[in-house]
Amino acid sequence: MIKDTIKNLIAEKAATIGVIGLGYVGLPLIVEFALKDFKGVGFEVDQKKVDEINAGRSYIVDVSDENVKKCVDAGNLTATIDFSQLNKCDVIIICVPTPLRKTKDPDMSYILAAGEEIKKYARRGQLIILESTTYPGTTDEVLQPMIEEAGLKLDEDFLLAFSPERVDPGNPQFQTHNITKVVGGVGRDSTEVSAFLYSQIVDNVHAVSSARVAEACKLWENTFRAINIGMANEMAKVCNALGIDTWEVVRAAATKPFGFMAFYPGPGIGGHCIPLDPHYLSWKARQHGFDSQFISLAEQVNSGMPKYVVKLVSDSLNGERKAVNGSKILILGVAYKKDIDDMRESPALSVIDLLRARGAEVVYHDPFVPEVHFDHAYTIGAGDPLFNSELTDDLIKSSDCVIICTEHSDIDYGNVTQLASLIVDTRNALKEEMRDASKAKIVRL
Ligand SMILES: NC(=O)c1ccc[n+]([C@@H]2O[C@H](COP(=O)([O-])OP(=O)(O)OC[C@H]3O[C@@H](n4cnc5c(N)ncnc54)[C@H](O)[C@@H]3O)[C@@H](O)[C@H]2O)c1
Repeated sequence: MIKDTIKNLIAEKAATIGVIGLGYVGLPLIVEFALKDFKGVGFEVDQKKVDEINAGRSYIVDVSDENVKKCVDAGNLTATIDFSQLNKCDVIIICVPTPLRKTKDPDMSYILAAGEEIKKYARRGQLIILESTTYPGTTDEVLQPMIEEAGLKLDEDFLLAFSPERVDPGNPQFQTHNITKVVGGVGRDSTEVSAFLYSQIVDNVHAVSSARVAEACKLWENTFRAINIGMANEMAKVCNALGIDTWEVVRAAATKPFGFMAFYPGPGIGGHCIPLDPHYLSWKARQHGFDSQFISLAEQVNSGMPKYVVKLVSDSLNGERKAVNGSKILILGVAYKKDIDDMRESPALSVIDLLRARGAEVVYHDPFVPEVHFDHAYTIGAGDPLFNSELTDDLIKSSDCVIICTEHSDIDYGNVTQLASLIVDTRNALKEEMRDASKAKIVRL
């Protein structure tokens, strides 16, 4: 039986693991397998990433150069743009992007492109797993028929499963190996073998009854976050209207040992997951005649936050008898979250764009992001690229307003409070003692 053949190969570490897409998800994953002595072959469309890996270097914050080099030197990791090598792989894991179209519908083109390559080079005896976040039904409605077009039959010739990736880039506590892996196969054999595969590299595997359950699980998790962040943002506006310290309220509520989980407000949501994934779920639900109001409302609140931040800035400047137009505004942190370099869907982009559209001169400092580019299809302001400015005392002093959009650790916030005239802190980066000793006027979300 094909199930036993693949399981034996895995048990003997003789299985070659192919990973399609070596980004934030695919690279850490293939390195985990390679570190556990499996042969990993990474498939990319980006030649630069292939060259970096083969030279033993990492370009992902959570993966060290040391580990990549170790795996490459041991002959356990290679990267290629030659998809014909898929034929040699016993396991193929798809980790390609799943963005949205401009209409906010799922953009399935990357999964389809990966599926086409698999179809060309598939052979009997392979386990294929989709990890890209997607709507329930993708694995069995989209991928399965594609692979069957190659003349192969599920369970007899190949196995197929979905396993969501839950990696949290930049999180020092939880990384691939200690985040429980949910696995759902298209059929029992696929579930069993996929669960066995992941048990080689992660501490805990949670098997579910189908690929659809696993697909829905991932969307539930991220929709939960999007909605709760939306609520935190709404509560911040309520607290501001009432003149109550939002952050003190959350901190106090979080002391309850059950029934409350702290989520924090901010200038909006970013990254490749939280702003996008709920749309995959609502799109699929709409096809079945169901309209998710929670998802729409959270989207509305979260995407409105950059405007709210700009209003705080505008009102605060007004208090200083200044206009946004002509003011010099320094943004601290542009990545979508703390201590990483990921700019995807970062709300700082919208804040900058809205300020520039109102005539502000915007500069930024972010130790992780050397330059920022704007998509002209979405900008209303100038849209010119911006380049990282060194955080000098002169820069802080010469700014009419400093906005903390991302609370990177490696910034001397105490110094900022001593030199700036006005600070809008959207992340509670300024601790109480800094606020008490501040020479700047501070406005918090
Ligand atoms: N980044 C995260 O924190 C995270 C967390 C959980 C799940 N996910 C999901 O995982 C998937 C991948 O996300 P990511 O953050 O790793 O994206 P990414 O953009 O960092 O990486 C994707 C990689 O795939 C490559 N690629 C694109 N098309 C390809 C093709 N046809 N063949 C081979 N390679 C191709 C790209 O060049 C890129 O290197 C998405 O579905 C995402 O929603 C991401």
